[in-house]
Amino acid sequence: MPRRSPLPRYDHGQTYAWNYEHAPAPDAHPDNLAIPAIPGDWDFCGLPVASPLGIAAGPLLNGAWCLYYARLGFDVLTYKTVRSTARNCYPMPNLVPVDCPPLDQAPPPVIECPQMRGSWAVSFGMPSAAPEIWREDIRSTRRQLADDKLLSVSVVGTVQEGWTTDQLADDYAQCAAWAVSSGADVIEANFSCPNVVTCDGQLYQQPADAGRVAQRVRDAIGNVPLIIKVGHLTAHAAARQLIDALAPSVSALAMTNSIATVVRRQNGQPHFEGQTRGICGAATYAASTRQVAMFHKLLSECGSGLQLIGVGGAASAGDVAGYLERGAHAVHVATAAMRNPRLASHIKQDWK
Ligand SMILES: Cc1cc2nc3c(=O)[nH]c(=O)nc-3n(C[C@H](O)[C@H](O)[C@H](O)COP(=O)(O)O)c2cc1C
Repeated sequence: MPRRSPLPRYDHGQTYAWNYEHAPAPDAHPDNLAIPAIPGDWDFCGLPVASPLGIAAGPLLNGAWCLYYARLGFDVLTYKTVRSTARNCYPMPNLVPVDCPPLDQAPPPVIECPQMRGSWAVSFGMPSAAPEIWREDIRSTRRQLADDKLLSVSVVGTVQEGWTTDQLADDYAQCAAWAVSSGADVIEANFSCPNVVTCDGQLYQQPADAGRVAQRVRDAIGNVPLIIKVGHLTAHAAARQLIDALAPSVSALAMTNSIATVVRRQNGQPHFEGQTRGICGAATYAASTRQVAMFHKLLSECGSGLQLIGVGGAASAGDVAGYLERGAHAVHVATAAMRNPRLASHIKQDWK
């Protein structure tokens, strides 16, 4: 069988700005695009869709990246988290491959490794283009995207010193309303970013505030499906409180954003000035599927119709099936799809 040429992908040796400007053309791949279908009737937050496969918030820096991965067989495209004001990316390195076993609660420090083996520390700080740029980009992306693909836009509030929760909620809601008026099919509000220390990154650990912010976003977007992205939780009581706070206003929960820990260089010195960073990729699969199973059980017990989106470490048809078996309704991928842009095609070919 002839070896297929590698496809363009995010270059982690280059800056975020460079990758933003150098998105591949939507048809920048020589493959014949006959990607098999996954049998069955699928929906995403109540909207019909061809498969449970999507790209998580992160790899799709702008509309051109969304269109590229849509052509490669992903059916839900999550536009990387946007803000109400422009924000630069953290300095490089933004992606540091790490060598680590499966991670769980309070993991020990992880060690950088020279080769990517499936997991990396992620350090972007949720950069964003200015709203007038991303709003126009979303508008043009939705126009160009095939009708059977869904565009989900991830938003986050940008907390200012001295702000109340209500002010933060208004900022989230403003971004969500702009995204919807630009054509977003779905809104994902990021309530967990392990790489920012302000409360916008930790809302999932504060159920009452999380509920207020989610309700404000709901009020701003009408009937558009709303997903809340949460971080790593292992305690039943905390999970139950979060469900109770979010259920009245939310369509689905996406989990797990990543698992935060300290990253060390091979010489033992700390990366990122000793601050924690979110580890993404294979090392999070076991913990994230356990979290999905726990939430699924809790949702069943309280008769909730909230959907679950499995995120973290999925890299094969078996991994996707593992999430679905534990109660996820859809599975979104970041790391494995960045490394292998043909991933959706491979998963669909291997589907049993
Ligand atoms: C390069 C990169 C950038 C990311 N940026 C965001 C982001 O802006 N917003 C967000 O909610 N999650 C972000 N994430 C987290 C992913 O959405 C996802 O939760 C995490 O990577 C776990 O999935 P994975 O193991 O398939 O990578 C990012 C992840 C990566 C790898």
